[in-house]
Amino acid sequence: MKSSVSFNTSNITSVVICLICMGCFPASSVLAQTIEFKKGMVSKPISDNLFGLFFEDINYAADGGLYAELIQNRSFEYNPTEKREWHALSFWDYLTPGFSYGKISVESREPVHVNNPHYVELTAEFTGQEGVGMRNKGFSPIGVKSGETYRFSMFTRLLSEEPVTMKVALQDNLGRMLAWKEVQISNTGWHQIESNLTTIRDCDSTSLVLLAVTKGKIALDMVSLFPEATFKGRKNGLRTDLAQLLADIKPAFIRFPGGCLVHGDGVGNMYRWKNTVGPLEQRVEQKNLWGYHQSMGLGYFEYFQLCEDIGAKPVPVLPAAVSCQNSGGTWRTGGTGQQALPIEDMEEYLQEVLDLVEWANGPADSKWGRIRAEAGHPEPFGLKYIGIGNEDKITPEFQSRFKMIYEAVKSAHPEITIIGTSGPFSDGEDFEKGWGIASTLEIPIVDEHYYKDPQWFTSNLKRYDAYDRTKPKVYLGEYASWGNKLSNALAEAAYMIGLERNGDVVEMASYAPLFAKKDFTQWRTDMIFFDHKKAFLTPNYHVQKMFSLHKGQKYISNIVTPTTSDSPLSASCVLDENQGDLIFKMVNTGDVSGDFTIDLSKVKGYDATASLEILTGAPGDENSFESPEKVAPKVSKMNITKKFVYSAPPSSFSVIRIKAIKK
Ligand code: AHR
Repeated sequence: MKSSVSFNTSNITSVVICLICMGCFPASSVLAQTIEFKKGMVSKPISDNLFGLFFEDINYAADGGLYAELIQNRSFEYNPTEKREWHALSFWDYLTPGFSYGKISVESREPVHVNNPHYVELTAEFTGQEGVGMRNKGFSPIGVKSGETYRFSMFTRLLSEEPVTMKVALQDNLGRMLAWKEVQISNTGWHQIESNLTTIRDCDSTSLVLLAVTKGKIALDMVSLFPEATFKGRKNGLRTDLAQLLADIKPAFIRFPGGCLVHGDGVGNMYRWKNTVGPLEQRVEQKNLWGYHQSMGLGYFEYFQLCEDIGAKPVPVLPAAVSCQNSGGTWRTGGTGQQALPIEDMEEYLQEVLDLVEWANGPADSKWGRIRAEAGHPEPFGLKYIGIGNEDKITPEFQSRFKMIYEAVKSAHPEITIIGTSGPFSDGEDFEKGWGIASTLEIPIVDEHYYKDPQWFTSNLKRYDAYDRTKPKVYLGEYASWGNKLSNALAEAAYMIGLERNGDVVEMASYAPLFAKKDFTQWRTDMIFFDHKKAFLTPNYHVQKMFSLHKGQKYISNIVTPTTSDSPLSASCVLDENQGDLIFKMVNTGDVSGDFTIDLSKVKGYDATASLEILTGAPGDENSFESPEKVAPKVSKMNITKKFVYSAPPSSFSVIRIKAIKK
């Protein structure tokens, strides 16, 4: 420590005191330039990865959500194992307008790719005035905007002698044209057609209509429509508005693709990363255990690209070769339906895990690095973390497989930090066993999950104060208080004060789940609600964002003091070394205002004007599509003095940011 410390030596007293009170944490020069430490003041490092995001394809978060594809069941792979009433032509209508007639069937003899077995054969026998064809209305209404361009594509094959002319149109619900083009199908092998459609007006009930306007027979598959304006303009990209909401949080990391989606409903449903990369038509689609379909269009490449686009570290979570303990509907009877990959399949599975590292980080001419490069990303993605397992039941089958995976990655890739798992609850058998394994194997980080009432959070603000600093670090991978009212968000904010205070042992944290689509929601507390064209933010989102945007690298004690030592008032002070700002976070979960004393007498210099961001309202307030801004943070300026009392309104979360060092 001594050699690495770079103090402002103009004040010898403060240096001596720093060395006494700062324990074993080295002081950075910014810290020393900012604060004179007095007895009892402590600075602790805060993990730079503390505030991140958890993305799971639950609540239609991916297909029909963040993934900007507008066509539902584009590849005719929907089936009754996903929903009893679903079949290969779900969400498609067969069209024979006027007196036209023909045939439609779903085939699998000669697919585009073996991984994508079903396609449609369409025969136009009498085309009449309008043609014979199909219509898709998307996931919910397709909304289009005037003057915007949409990228249409589909794979086709001519099955008749004469080429077939097809009309590709966007229509409103009265059949009026918004945009259309004609395409010729003359190729006898599978071939992808691409065409841009620019709409002439806004429409909130758009359908894609494909009509064969000349006689003949064709095969078609992978019928796709994307807005050209995706996030960062990526082809096969993401909904701009939703992705931007993630970028706005400036998350340190994004965990994906779940959640229980990772370990799946039985071993056959585990999320296998290799099935989700490469050309779209070659990806292996499968049932989503939350009761719908995964096209895998948003796959590992797209997740990594999103992370890169918004400056977040990718944190993929891979199954620990066991399925969810609730597999096969056993959640109804308390589990355990956990299934394990047979031991004889483990060698191949271990290779699959190792191949992920090569795919993400290997050179563009390596076997798996080449697949990444062919997708348009020759540079490595810089993968640093891999999660193994998702809140699994800690059975002997889990333990043996987890250990094999852990040891294989550790020995082949010591540069990768592995995250273990500790069951679905904050305590109990799996929690103890998960932590036991982590300690024995010296796993660097352990993933904890819990969803609780707000009272649990406010009663457990000191949970991590007592964690053993010699043990693995914590990734609080999923947590939320049950609800999206202001009172829920404030309970989480109070708890997050404790995460910051323990940012030396809590390495990472992510609220869960992230997205929920209107009318397609499986989980009852979520961060961002959206429909086909807009989104609203919950108070919980605002809290997450305020913590992330006002993060610090050092936690400093005894500079902000609430008048109560525990709930309903909680506070933290952190130093943002990059900006030279001291940041005070103050939560009042009570129903009367609460005072916090901020004592800057040991701060060497500061601007007399500070910024104040405050989230407040009635405890039961929440946002909605109708009233999206009912609970939203407000920013203002305030004047400060050397020692002042900040009176936090009832039910509030306040962040005061003080410029403490001139840059
Ligand atoms: O976040 C929703 C679900 O909660 C996750 O899929 C699972 O890991 C947890 O039980």
